[in-house]
Amino acid sequence: MLDMNHVTRFYTLLILLFLSSSINTVLAQKKEPLHLVSAKECKACHEEIYSQWKGSMHANSTALKDPIHGAFYKAVIGNPKEEGLKKKDKYPVCLQCHAPAAAKDGKTNLAALPVYNEGVNCVACHTITKFKGTKKASGGLRLGTKAYEFSESSLQGPGTNHSGPDWEHPLFENSANPDIFKTSAVCMGCHDQRKNSNKVALCQTGGEIASSGGSNNCLSCHMPVVNGKVDHSLLGGHSAKMVSKGLLMTMSTVTRNNTLDVSIKLTNQLPHNFPTGAPFRNVYVRLTGYDKEGQVVWSSSQSHPAQDDKKAMFMYSLGDKEGKPAPPPKATQVLGDTRLKPHETRKLLYSVPKMKIIKLRAVAYYDLLLPPMKKKFSKPEHKELVTSKIIAVSENSIDLVGRK
Ligand code: HEC
Ligand code: HEC
Ligand code: HEC
Ligand code: HEC
Ligand code: HEC
Repeated sequence: MLDMNHVTRFYTLLILLFLSSSINTVLAQKKEPLHLVSAKECKACHEEIYSQWKGSMHANSTALKDPIHGAFYKAVIGNPKEEGLKKKDKYPVCLQCHAPAAAKDGKTNLAALPVYNEGVNCVACHTITKFKGTKKASGGLRLGTKAYEFSESSLQGPGTNHSGPDWEHPLFENSANPDIFKTSAVCMGCHDQRKNSNKVALCQTGGEIASSGGSNNCLSCHMPVVNGKVDHSLLGGHSAKMVSKGLLMTMSTVTRNNTLDVSIKLTNQLPHNFPTGAPFRNVYVRLTGYDKEGQVVWSSSQSHPAQDDKKAMFMYSLGDKEGKPAPPPKATQVLGDTRLKPHETRKLLYSVPKMKIIKLRAVAYYDLLLPPMKKKFSKPEHKELVTSKIIAVSENSIDLVGRK
């Protein structure tokens, strides 16, 4: 009996110790301001959403994780592991969108806390209580975290998982906020618009959508329901599959005496530009003629359409005062914008010498970076970033009747 008592007391003590330590962890979590809560703390119960997010550009948006952003950040702002960085005497605006937790603390050393390097993490979105808009009454812009109001104590969500009026989140206080979480408002603080320090527009996905009229909720395309859950992969330019969904490309060919008259029709199926986003995203089309041995006998472009077939190049061009091409941070003017506008259809016409062509193939390619910028990303681990991705293909066979 005595033995049993000891054993029971020992286990009771263990259980009590375990309980109090886990209660303490929960309490500690509750005391911590929500913006410092790591995505890892959501992982245990939201495994699938966590792994989708982890592979997304939102989880990889900081200068220490995204090589492209990192390269620009280092050039324009400085070392992302240094504290107290300033740009024109001000806290670097980049962090308001690319590293929201650090921005809320006014810190620039992204290695100081693991959450600073989590980029646009769960709580960066799931604490938004209000979208104030990106235009200040005084005329300037407020961007990223500055465009929102946040809760530091209560998680915000769409409210669709509330199983009843008394539903409570098992770990955190929570509020249903469908005005934010069922609309584009949750995205616009960071995706509406951005200008460089010379007031030249860089990214303007929000503005593009506004100009296309109609209601175009970002969530319906970018956060679809997959297997019954809202998908958090947030695919964009880094996924050729996603990019290919935006473009419809068809081709028709009329055979004349000595030429093949080709019309390639390109339709942007999206309510924003194609391609949208970062100013160096670009699409180009190449038309190739093959003989019956499968050899290339004609091509619309010998080097790159940016050089020798500009009508087949869909890009945003930025320049300096002299009108020479300039990178986004230094640009003082827009030289041109040949991206497809929302829902625009454009035709590319070619008159191809007949030769021995039996097949014509048009291929549309997408690039994250413009050709001159690719040289800066020559390391083997950056191969994905500099490889042109096929996003659409269209073929016509040429009737050989009547030919020798
Ligand atoms: C102890 C388990 C647990 C942890 C940890 C957890 N959650 Fe949840 N959460 C749930 C459950 C259960 C639901 C109900 C719906 C479901 O099963 O997805 C839920 C629902 C939600 C919802 C939907 C609420 C709505 O308005 O519909 C959001 C948003 C959410 N959690 C965010 C988070 C975030 C962000 C974290 C980390 C900071 C987190 N959760 C951590 C268990 C958890
Ligand atoms: C706190 C700011 C913030 C919010 C809020 C936000 N984003 Fe983002 N988003 C970013 C940043 C920063 C990147 C770029 C990361 C990079 O490439 O370095 C990004 C990347 C993306 C990409 C991927 C682009 C690519 O290159 O593949 C898509 C798509 C996207 N966001 C859509 C959305 C949508 C839709 C919403 C609303 C549900 C949203 N974002 C909310 C900051 C934000
Ligand atoms: C870019 C902003 C953003 C980020 C980052 C984000 N979420 Fe969400 N999340 C949303 C939006 C918006 C919805 C609601 C979409 C809807 O209902 O159409 C949502 C819905 C949810 C839901 C409800 C899912 C359902 O099927 O109804 C859960 C749970 C959730 N998020 C958890 C998380 C967790 C955990 C993380 C981090 C690993 C995270 N979210 C990161 C914007 C975000
Ligand atoms: C009809 C579906 C659809 C809607 C609605 C939509 N998008 Fe997209 N979005 C796409 C597709 C497809 C792509 C890939 C092609 C491209 O980059 O233009 C894309 C690309 C993007 C990218 C990637 C840019 C980059 O640099 O890689 C961002 C960011 C983005 N969208 C944000 C938004 C935001 C913000 C909204 C709402 C205001 C929105 N989208 C509405 C389908 C949509
Ligand atoms: C208003 C929010 C916002 C601010 C401020 C901002 N960015 Fe971004 N940035 C984004 C978003 C959103 C994307 C990705 C989607 C897109 O291209 O629109 C992005 C993408 C990028 C990319 C391309 C990343 C890639 O993977 O190809 C670079 C480079 C970049 N930003 C650099 C910067 C630098 C440097 C600063 C500060 C001088 C800055 N950004 C400020 C929102 C912002």
